[in-house]
Formats: sequence, structure tokens, C-alpha cells
Amino acid sequence: MLDVGCGTGTLTLWAKQREPGIDIAGIDGDPAVLRRAATKAEEAGVELDLREALADDLPFEDASFDRAITSLVFHHLPREVKERSAAEIARVLKPGGELHVADWGRGDPLMRLAFLTTRLLDGFERTADNARGRLPAIFEGAGLRDVRETARFRTMSGAMVLLSARR
Ligand SMILES: C[S@@+](CC[C@H](N)C(=O)[O-])C[C@H]1O[C@@H](n2cnc3c(N)ncnc32)[C@H](O)[C@@H]1O
Repeated sequence: MLDVGCGTGTLTLWAKQREPGIDIAGIDGDPAVLRRAATKAEEAGVELDLREALADDLPFEDASFDRAITSLVFHHLPREVKERSAAEIARVLKPGGELHVADWGRGDPLMRLAFLTTRLLDGFERTADNARGRLPAIFEGAGLRDVRETARFRTMSGAMVLLSARR
């Protein structure tokens, strides 16, 4: 499994602890958060393959993962980087491999209001695709299929959506 934009590795570690038999890699563009992830993994006695890399230039062979996950990363990326990152994820997934995404999505008026603070912090232009519900189209444009929303949560910071897709 690959965690794209793994940050301090909270989800990466959780996945490995839940399914100890899997090999799991995490990439992030920020070396400081990766050091924190490595410390957390060491303290937990868990082996993770952590690498400094950008989501739109993944350091892995084609078709090398069964699953990819990415949580709260895509809303940080400009549109063209979102598109290139989705294409990179599609490239490294095996045929039939799954992508699971958690990120901000289109919400009702109250959720749009709640999302304003997040948009102010993370940038209105970068978060526009999320606010307009365009992430599924971006993954479809990258050649992924069966793109669907599997859950949606109302939060203090906006509508959180879970998406799944298949290579
Ligand atoms: C809000 S954090 C989420 C971290 C983690 N996925 C989680 O859910 O706890 C966003 C992460 O995305 C990383 N990130 C942002 N743009 C990136 C890019 N282009 N390539 C790789 N990582 C990126 C940041 O360094 C940060 O660690």
C-alpha cells in the first residue's frame, strides 16, 4: 500500500498496525514531517518505507501497488498538480488496484460556510476543485474507473468526503 502525502504517518501507521502483513510506503514532500513519521514508527516498533517525494513524481515503478490512500492532501494542490498526481497514482497502481481518498468536498450552504476558514488558510484557488466537487472528475480524467463517493461527513471545517476508485 502507498500513502500519498503521509504527513506524520498517523494513517500510515494505523493501516500497518491494523494489517501487519502488508508492506506500506509513505511519501511526503516535507522532510520534517517525515522525520516525525519515522520516530512514530520506530516508537511503535513498526516498519514503514518512508520517502521524501512529491505526489506528482512518485519514486516507484509502474503497477507496483495494490492500494493507494491519500488523506487531506489534494486540496493543497493547484489544479494541474492535482491532475498530475492523480495520473501518478494511476500509474503506480496495479490493474484492478484501489485508490481511497479522504478530502474536502462540495457541501450544503452550512458546510460551505464551515469550509470558508479552511479555504482562507489553504487558499481559495487551490481548494476550488474540492469546493465544487470536482475531485471525482480529476480521478476519472487520470484513467481511474468506478470513481465513487463512499461516505460524507459534516465537520466543523466543511464536508469531508471519502472517494474510492479502481485502476
Ligand atoms: C494536511 S496534511 C495530511 C497528512 C496526512 N495524510 C494525514 O491525513 O494526517 C497534508 C500533507 O500533504 C503534504 N503535501 C502537500 N503537497 C504535497 C505534494 N505535492 N507532494 C507530496 N506531499 C505533499 C504536506 O507536506 C502534508 O504533510
